[in-house]
Amino acid sequence: MVVLRGGDTIEVHAPAKLNLFLELLARRPDGFHELETLMVPVSIYDTLLVRSLSSPEIRLESHWTSGLFNRLGSSLGDLPPAESNIVFKAAKLLQEVSGTALGLEIVLTKRIPSQAGLGGASSDAAATLVAANLAWQLEWSREQLAMIAGQLGSDVPFFLFDGAAMCRGRGELIAPLGPTTPLHVVVVRPPEGISTPQVYRRCTVPENPVAASASISAILAGDPLATGRALVNRLQAPAAEISPWIGRMSEAFSRTDCLGHQMSGSGSSYYGICRNARHARRLAAQLEAARLGYVMCSIAGGAA
Ligand code: C5P
Repeated sequence: MVVLRGGDTIEVHAPAKLNLFLELLARRPDGFHELETLMVPVSIYDTLLVRSLSSPEIRLESHWTSGLFNRLGSSLGDLPPAESNIVFKAAKLLQEVSGTALGLEIVLTKRIPSQAGLGGASSDAAATLVAANLAWQLEWSREQLAMIAGQLGSDVPFFLFDGAAMCRGRGELIAPLGPTTPLHVVVVRPPEGISTPQVYRRCTVPENPVAASASISAILAGDPLATGRALVNRLQAPAAEISPWIGRMSEAFSRTDCLGHQMSGSGSSYYGICRNARHARRLAAQLEAARLGYVMCSIAGGAA
């Protein structure tokens, strides 16, 4: 997450994420799943412009960037009305818990496709907590913000800590892995999204869960080939039962020379790992020609 300050406005770049490893460990009595996932931020990001208001009002204006809207159009879905947007809820939550009398104006520009398994909404919520904390001069630590972030969504706390991390519990318990070597990836969001609860309803918890150790070693070694070989996503099979696009993308990526490929999170985005930037540009051109959806050439991980 990048935070820039200019006058009374705070600009935050809220990155997307990819799951390089996602394994289910148990179904919990509260309806969630105990899991283990390795997440890395990627260079695709939403932008938030945030300003403190002297009245307690929370004002949110959000829009898709025109480029993304032109490519994906109505398949992006409508942005939720201000009051049901997770960004609005994040600002309200911090306002209530901190007891501040101040309000917030937020202008959100969306570039991260939704219902994509890229964590766009969760990242926006984390960015809102960080920006509001600065705008209201609360001086909460990232750890304190993480304590309330989990109430907004399982993936929100991850975005408060920069860089790759192992996430456990329902995803909200974060163990940062430190700086990692940037990985070149190509991400494709097909013309339809997938609903996360629907995917979890269809998933099966394995008797013998796969360990995350190979994925962790590969990313820490900065080895794209080993990272590509160690990819795991237990949610891909149930997602493929819901959307035919997952199978289509798996087949299309199998025909390329990428180092490994899989779906991110609960889908519907799919990505492939590349050797370097040139390889990523070539793969992106090949996938553009296959007309699978919105193709994004990006960099995963990097400085923590
Ligand atoms: O926490 P979040 O709002 O992202 O979760 C959305 C839905 O995904 C939950 O209502 C639940 O059905 C499912 N989920 C789950 N186990 C997790 C995370 C999410 O079953 N660890």
